[in-house]
Amino acid sequence: MKVSGLTAALLLGATGALASATPKVGKVSYDGYKAYRIATSGKDAAAIKDKLASFAAVQFNFDTQEHLDVAIAPEEVSAFEALSLPTTIMSEDLGAEIATEGNFGVYEKNVSTSAAVPSLTWFDAYHAYADHITFFNDLAASFPQNSEIFTVGSSFQGRSIFGIHLWGSGGKGSKPAVYFHGTVHAREWITAKVVEYITYKLLVDYSTDTAVKAILDKYDFYILPFVNPDGFVYTQSTNRLWRKNRQTRSGASCVGTDVNRNWPYKWELTGGASTNPCDETYKGAAAGDTPENKALTNFTLSLANSKGIKLYIDWHSYGQYILTPYGYNCQARPANQARQNALAQGLANKIREKYGTRFTYGPACSTLYATTGDSTDYITDVAKAEFAWTIELRPGGSSSGNNGFVLPAAQILPSSVEQWEGMKYLLANV
Ligand code: ARG
Ligand code: ZN
Repeated sequence: MKVSGLTAALLLGATGALASATPKVGKVSYDGYKAYRIATSGKDAAAIKDKLASFAAVQFNFDTQEHLDVAIAPEEVSAFEALSLPTTIMSEDLGAEIATEGNFGVYEKNVSTSAAVPSLTWFDAYHAYADHITFFNDLAASFPQNSEIFTVGSSFQGRSIFGIHLWGSGGKGSKPAVYFHGTVHAREWITAKVVEYITYKLLVDYSTDTAVKAILDKYDFYILPFVNPDGFVYTQSTNRLWRKNRQTRSGASCVGTDVNRNWPYKWELTGGASTNPCDETYKGAAAGDTPENKALTNFTLSLANSKGIKLYIDWHSYGQYILTPYGYNCQARPANQARQNALAQGLANKIREKYGTRFTYGPACSTLYATTGDSTDYITDVAKAEFAWTIELRPGGSSSGNNGFVLPAAQILPSSVEQWEGMKYLLANV
């Protein structure tokens, strides 16, 4: 299961796997698409959804309580505006914003420190998937006393689902686990960058910053930056706004299952996921029936049964939320609810201290919307983590210039820094 580094063979094998089986389609263009936030109120949300059914709209969120964010194709903009829905504009031209974001950075090492440490310029731009792998291999190679690359299994298309394991003075695997998942939803690009920054700071500052040393000496970190690698690669090659994995199923013409609706816990409940393979929140045909969920569930249980999970964070975007359990039921609360709430509040305060960014915190279902088969419910109740949260990164909900999943490259670093400040607080206090 453990490997010392991600080999080129793994990478090549993965990218070659299904290329010939899938017809090559051009990149989806979002030029001229406008993104809108539609104000809803529990009551007319269904009527609004009905009106939208005839549009080829891209749905951004599932929160029909307060608002619905959608992207509308240029040829449908006038028909959409004729509906006179209560909207604010999130983006005048999604394609133009995606274009600037798509100028991937060139991977660079930091020559002034250790030979292999990646340069901090990494956080000035988005990067190609292959460069993310190089970033982690170089980090692990630079800090062999504190880190190693591991894999938990393979995606539907055969890519390795890899992670980096970090440890401190107690030695490898001796402490309770802090466990992160990034990029469960393919289009949420900022999540990989933020977990990369946290990983980078834990390793690079370990020898010079006593607060960082105390954290890494207390916990073993298991950080999986891309739990849905197929989806991520697809957002870079073909469709920037893809969310799900890339699993095909016999009898279904639509591709993809929502990996955050497929965990085998409360999966069977209705209302928090879709049974339609064409929907963004498609839950799969059976609990845990995606290759990604199988691999993640096995690894999660092995962590739970060996050292125990202190803290799990599922990193998402967008909306600026810190969400505590549960997703499946808006009344249910975990036994340690008071501590969950106090720490989430402390985290929100700490994040805000840095640049004034406001994060809303609270139980996931009642604060945002219901989900079934999501990772944090499973990891709370089945894997018995003390804390299992969802963090929805920038941008926020209501500001103008809010492009949803397309966060300007200039915000990668500040978004990362504020989370790092938050994590130092959380990990010292949890
Ligand atoms: N936005 C993420 C999703 O749709 C996380 C949801 C968090 N959980 C919740 N019950 N709202 O999967
Ligand atoms: Zn998400």
